[in-house]
Amino acid sequence: METMSPAREAGGRAGLNLIAPLSILNNSMVKLFITGGAGFIGSAFIRLALAEIPGCHVVNFDALTYAGNLDNLSGIDQSRHRFVRGDICDREAVGAVLAEGADAIINFAAESHVDRSIASADEFLRTNILGTQVLLDAARAAGVRRFVQVSTDEVMGSLPEDDNTFFTEASPFEPNSPYSASKAAAEHLVRAAHHTFGLDTVVTRCGNNYGPRQFPEKFLPLMLSNAMRDESIPLYGDGRNVRDWIYVEDHCRAILMVLQKGRTGEAYNVGARNERRNIEVAQSVLTALGKPHTLIRHVKDRPGHDRRYAIDPTKIETELGWRPHETWETGLQKTIQWYADNDEWVARARSGDYREYYAKQYGTEAGAN
Ligand code: NAD
Ligand code: TYD
Repeated sequence: METMSPAREAGGRAGLNLIAPLSILNNSMVKLFITGGAGFIGSAFIRLALAEIPGCHVVNFDALTYAGNLDNLSGIDQSRHRFVRGDICDREAVGAVLAEGADAIINFAAESHVDRSIASADEFLRTNILGTQVLLDAARAAGVRRFVQVSTDEVMGSLPEDDNTFFTEASPFEPNSPYSASKAAAEHLVRAAHHTFGLDTVVTRCGNNYGPRQFPEKFLPLMLSNAMRDESIPLYGDGRNVRDWIYVEDHCRAILMVLQKGRTGEAYNVGARNERRNIEVAQSVLTALGKPHTLIRHVKDRPGHDRRYAIDPTKIETELGWRPHETWETGLQKTIQWYADNDEWVARARSGDYREYYAKQYGTEAGAN
């Protein structure tokens, strides 16, 4: 009697790569297990999922590290959202919550800041690699139908400057920072779980997100919160590094589409065709705020600083019909408005540990010029 390999059964690499018949968005009762949902992108995803899928219930599993903030979830329908404080590396805790059932896992939980990974990589290896494996094992044990890994374009390394090359899904992995190396390792584990055990997995690789509720250690919210207080903006090196910027809700829409109809075992690059040099981004922010460009302060470059990220999103556009809704101008305006309206959130984020981090990273106090 012919037996099918698990991967073939799942329509995976060894099989036909069928579109997964999930129809998760049409399901009147769907339960999503979301990790890292108190962070920047995870919380935006929860907002979107609850708004777009009326029968959607979310379990939000988050350790509440310095980057996690329950305020990020204010105003959502709490009757369809359950928060569980927990560490994705804790097998018992993850297993206990998943034993209550979940249709899909979407893994946002990570240590996400390159500069912190350069200062110390330990937590990155633990959460991003070990944590992902714990979730993959738990997904199999609990019979979860689909596992979505939220990855990054940074696993593909750096592109040459002023060149017409882009990251495609076939680009080789060439991670250059401890952060991107840990995310690449996590992707390998996701691939292995699919190939070896037939777990239904999909991966998204997105570029630099911006939007409301991003912790102000990342470039865009750091610039906004500093400039709004007339403090200088630290620009690494010559400021000519290129990033491919996307509004956070557009990234979340892509994840929702991939969850629903992405092909099993596949990865999808997500980008809004919006390459900008850091110096241009800094200038746009200052102009939009009506602040002088003299606030830009060139500081020591980041070690190993990737020169250029640029994403070719053709696959997700053509296969899944995804398109960004926001332009750079509309997205930036919405972001600036949110930071202007939520100064208390910013002030809280900039207090406590942040001050110590800032002093170490920039050799000056947050709030000093
Ligand atoms: P973030 O740092 O804002 O949030 C991370 C969240 O994960 C926080 O709420 C934190 O408390 C939680 N967390 C950390 N360690 C945990 C652990 N061990 N167990 C449970 N929860 C834990 O990050 P973000 O910017 O929202 O990024 C979310 C995901 O998207 C990450 O996987 C990141 O690699 C990926 N990504 C981010 C970007 C970007 O531009 N921010 C771009 C592409 C991909
Ligand atoms: P960041 O937001 O840390 O994202 P990533 O490193 O994942 O792309 O940084 C975005 C770009 O901005 C990157 O080229 C580094 C640069 N940058 C600065 O110039 N100054 C800063 O203070 C920070 C945090 C980043």
